Amino acid sequence: MSVEQSLAGKVVVITGSGRGIGKEMAIDAAAHGARLALVEVIKENLDATVKEIAATGAEVRGYHTDLGNEAQVIENFKAIEKDFGKIDCLVNNAMVHEAEDLVKTSLDSWNRSLSITLTGSFLTIRAVLPEMMKRKAGNIINIGTVNAKTMVGSDSYSVAKAGLHALTRTVAVRYGPHGIRCNTVVPGTIATDAWQSRVDRNPTIFENLKPWYPLGRVGKPKDISEAVIFLLSDKSEWMSGSEMVVDGGLLAGMAPMYKIVEGSD
Ligand SMILES: NC(=O)c1ccc[n+]([C@@H]2O[C@H](COP(=O)([O-])OP(=O)(O)OC[C@H]3O[C@@H](n4cnc5c(N)ncnc54)[C@H](O)[C@@H]3O)[C@@H](O)[C@H]2O)c1
Repeated sequence: MSVEQSLAGKVVVITGSGRGIGKEMAIDAAAHGARLALVEVIKENLDATVKEIAATGAEVRGYHTDLGNEAQVIENFKAIEKDFGKIDCLVNNAMVHEAEDLVKTSLDSWNRSLSITLTGSFLTIRAVLPEMMKRKAGNIINIGTVNAKTMVGSDSYSVAKAGLHALTRTVAVRYGPHGIRCNTVVPGTIATDAWQSRVDRNPTIFENLKPWYPLGRVGKPKDISEAVIFLLSDKSEWMSGSEMVVDGGLLAGMAPMYKIVEGSD
């Protein structure tokens, strides 16, 4: 069965799909025949993405939701189940990224990071599990990060994401016997609007990061979307609890260091 055949008609929920990687995944999943429920807090971006995807003839609906609001998550996920009849796949992609340095992080900012990036994913997973268990089928993808594996800045964000990586393992092991699989995708640097404040501070930031990437470039949303499409499809049906690293080779080693060690720079 092709990826297209196995994604056709599947109901896929993607959080944080108003821009960036989430939007790219939504466009690609729709192109593969998925039925899409988009969850996003910025209404204009949500509406624009829904409009863009609907124009391709795909089935898509938007659910304006703040993942920090438990009641809204419960209500909107009930609405998704009612509107589509089921939820086959959930992609937890939404996040917030604020202060970089622990010392400069307010308690509010720390709490927001955990609340949206980690607890928001707990809320969505808790919302979809009962119906998935009833049908003995479900596929959950959490978008993690290399920051959860090694220190590259963004302290509270990295801690929240490390929790999300652990949540993947919990779901995979506890609910695997109920037909549910759960995996983490681990992106390296992806040039998106999330980087805008850093680009404003340093317009050559992506160029400066290149030496750390063995494949010679930072990533683009499509790099992540391709991996997610594979995980959404039945081609990956025996994958669960895994961390699929999509990082241009970053985590494989400290690229600029070996040349210094060998004196081969
Ligand atoms: N861009 C990178 O370099 C990079 C690297 C590693 C991992 N990631 C991960 O990839 C995913 C997408 O990143 P991106 O660069 O596209 O980020 P982004 O900031 O462009 O997109 C995140 C989306 O989440 C939405 N969101 C924020 N708070 C929300 C809330 N309370 N409720 C609902 N939606 C909310 C935002 O409005 C936005 O549309 C994230 O999980 C991120 O951690 C990104």
